[in-house]
Amino acid sequence: MNKKVTIKELAEKTGLSITTVSQILNGKGSRFSEKNIKKVLAFRDQLHYVPNSAARNLSNKTDKTIGVLVPTISNPFFSEFLQLIENYSDSKTHVIMIGLDGDRSQLYSAIEGLIAQGVDGLIVAVAVEESSKANDLLRENWIPYIVLDQNSTKDSDFIATDDFHGGQLVAQYLCKLGHRRFSVVVPDKESMTYNINLRLNGFVEKCRDLGIATDDIQILEAKFSKHGGQKTVPDIVSFKPTAIFTLSDELAIGVLGGIYDQGLEVPGNYSLVGYDDTDYAEFMNPKLTTVRQPISLLAKYALEMLENRISDSKLKQQVRAVDVELVIRNSTKEN
Ligand code: RIB
Repeated sequence: MNKKVTIKELAEKTGLSITTVSQILNGKGSRFSEKNIKKVLAFRDQLHYVPNSAARNLSNKTDKTIGVLVPTISNPFFSEFLQLIENYSDSKTHVIMIGLDGDRSQLYSAIEGLIAQGVDGLIVAVAVEESSKANDLLRENWIPYIVLDQNSTKDSDFIATDDFHGGQLVAQYLCKLGHRRFSVVVPDKESMTYNINLRLNGFVEKCRDLGIATDDIQILEAKFSKHGGQKTVPDIVSFKPTAIFTLSDELAIGVLGGIYDQGLEVPGNYSLVGYDDTDYAEFMNPKLTTVRQPISLLAKYALEMLENRISDSKLKQQVRAVDVELVIRNSTKEN
């Protein structure tokens, strides 16, 4: 029995990209030349190609299938976001979710795979650097998409979270409590993203405005995980801060564990502030003071904006701005 012809082989025969071939086969190829459309259909018949489209199998003509791309599903911020997308999407919208397990180099093939499956649109929460191949793939394929979280962009639909303000809120609050010496735990170079950098800049600039000397701010890079946070604690202890700001709740969980490993306490020895306000924050001991990102709003806006874009590809750029707020719990105290 002959091996099933893949879309990659069909694309190679036609000399066109996988995404072009899949969009023509999925009836979304009106913008391609008559010549290319005919070529794809001719080779499809000649090779007896049968699309292996999970997306098309999932839905009939009136239904929609959308792809959602996140850096990792193990992080509570993203797992909560995905769950809310599923909860808020209507019965005629099927959702294919992909977590890249922290490996951004998989982004291009993940997007290509979703387009090849004939999704009607994409929600992208993974950093798509402006000049990256992934960004070009999205724009060349005219596939409706919106970006958020780790992205800022000049030309596609996006949701802008005020991360800079988030960092300022933390600095303002800790200085008001009388803290003057800080350790800040940030993701390492391969995990650092545009939005997290804004938080760090907001924190450092507000500290400077409030008279904190640069030497009194220690910035520690960590693997973007609980263990990564935990490993920074010996350096924190040596620096002798009175307060610690971690750029995500996950890092805060790791730092808290490391502090207890050293026989020290929060907030007794150090005040600790996280970022996200995922559902872990209020169940930690002590309950975590953190910056709340409006995850529910992000999910609602993402679906709404993508729906608008799918309905009208000529719509002018959609930009929604969301703010953050400081949630004060028990992991901070006066210095
Ligand atoms: O916890 C994961 C972090 O990475 C969140 O702050 C989210 O904004 C993402 O950028």
